[in-house]
Order: sequence, then C-alpha cells, then structure tokens
Amino acid sequence: MPQDARNGTGVAYRRPAVHTKSVLGAGVRISRRMLGWDMATPSVGRLTYSDRAVARNYEKTRFSSMLGRVVDRLEKRAVVEAVVTQGDANAALEAPCGTARIGLVLASLGAKVVGVDISLEMIRVVKGKLATSQGMTIEFVRSDIERLPFRAAAFDAAVCVRLMNLVSPSLRSKMIEELARVASNCLVVSYLDPSTLKGILRRLQGAVCRETCKLPTTMISDALLDIRGAGFGNLLVKRLFGRIGESCFVVARKSRV
Ligand SMILES: C[S@@+](CC[C@H](N)C(=O)[O-])C[C@H]1O[C@@H](n2cnc3c(N)ncnc32)[C@H](O)[C@@H]1O
Repeated sequence: MPQDARNGTGVAYRRPAVHTKSVLGAGVRISRRMLGWDMATPSVGRLTYSDRAVARNYEKTRFSSMLGRVVDRLEKRAVVEAVVTQGDANAALEAPCGTARIGLVLASLGAKVVGVDISLEMIRVVKGKLATSQGMTIEFVRSDIERLPFRAAAFDAAVCVRLMNLVSPSLRSKMIEELARVASNCLVVSYLDPSTLKGILRRLQGAVCRETCKLPTTMISDALLDIRGAGFGNLLVKRLFGRIGESCFVVARKSRV
C-alpha cells in the first residue's frame, strides 16, 4: 500500500512507485522517488495560494532577502530576454500570474499582458499593486491552467514561472499542452532541476531528515519531452545559477513545418 503523509497544507502525499533512471550519467544513479514525492492530490499550489495570508506575504517571504532579490531579478531578466528581445511581447500570457511579478515587467515594456491564476487572493494582491502602477495594459482572469478560456494561438508568448514544482508529472504535461495551445510562437517555463548541486543537497537533506514532503523537481530531459510533444522545438535551456542552483528556464519556439 502506498504510504500517505501530510504537509502543512493538509494535502495528502503518496509515495510513488520506484523507477530508477540515470540522471547524472554513467555511474551515478538517482531513483525517481528521490526526485520528490508524487502527490495523491496532483496540484498542491491550488490550495496553498488560495489562503489570504499566504497571498499577501508571497513576495515578501520569497523575494525580500538579498538572495531573493537576486533571484527575482534573474527570473525577470530571463523572461524579458526570451520574450521582449525576441519580439514576442505584443500579446503575452503569464500563467500562473500570482502577484504578476513578471507580467507587470512585460506590461511596463509595452506588452499587452493577460495574467491567469486560480487564486482570487493572489489576483487581489496584484490589483492592489496596480493602483500604484500607471499606464500598463494588463488584465486578469481567474482560471485553471488545465483549461484556459482562450482560443488557440491567442498569444504570441506564454510564460509559466514557479508552477511546475507544485504539480505532479502527469498534470505538468497536461498544463504544458494547454499553454502550448494558446501560444503562437514562444513558451517560457521554469523548472527545478534535480541534477544541480542544490538539487542534490536537497535530496540528501530530505533523506537525512526523513522529510515527508519535498518539492517535485523535474528532470530537464522530461521537461523537454513535454514541450517537444506539445509542438514546440528550438529549445534553449537557461540555468539561472549554472549547475549550482536548481532554477532553470526552458525557452521554446514553435516548430515550423
Ligand atoms: C509559486 S506561485 C508563482 C506565481 C508567479 N508565476 C511567480 O513567479 O511569482 C504559484 C501560483 O500558481 C497558482 N496555481 C496553482 N495551480 C494552478 C492552476 N491549476 N491554475 C492556475 N493557477 C494555479 C497559484 O495560485 C499561485 O499563484
């Protein structure tokens, strides 16, 4: 029987079946179980961010320290380089938008941005911020990324940051398909890469402390398979901290036939 555990959000996690696959190449083998817990509830983010206090403190808890500010700046720069400097910024989707950290930057650079999030509380926080930012074209829609309420190719670019580490592998593939459906040219998706130094340390820490829940990371080869399978080729992997930090952005453009 799978073993259930609970994290602070009350979401049940289930220990997945063990499949072993080499991630670090010859001689070093990491089991998929070590990459993170599979979830009985496939998306932990849906619950966590619907809480008002979590939404209000989202940016403060993650991006106000010195390292947090660096991460924030690097993430924004990665998206701007992928989207704006390549001329895909006319109509951009940020999904999930959360507090529209990135969408607001794209909008300030002249893009027409739509932010989608399932959490009304997160959208409320952005609307509060918008009161102080003028002259930007940005709209918000509350929706589940699994079923976006837009026609195919409605946007030049779709940007998805900090979601893939909250969902199960099957949901991850489904969400990528949906984002690829609405993006006519460019897709930018962030992942946590388990083959980096931070990824390895996190797993060791998890093994020693017997944590019941770890962030699901994604082998970049699996991420690329999802994105290629959704019709996007021309893939570029951008690691924000080289092989040290886990944060990794995949920038993809539509394959032309
Ligand atoms: C870690 S935050 C990331 C927000 C933003 N992309 C950023 O980088 O700051 C994760 C967000 O995903 C949203 N979310 C989780 N599951 C979702 C789903 N199925 N559909 C839409 N939004 C979802 C949450 O409400 C939350 O705002």
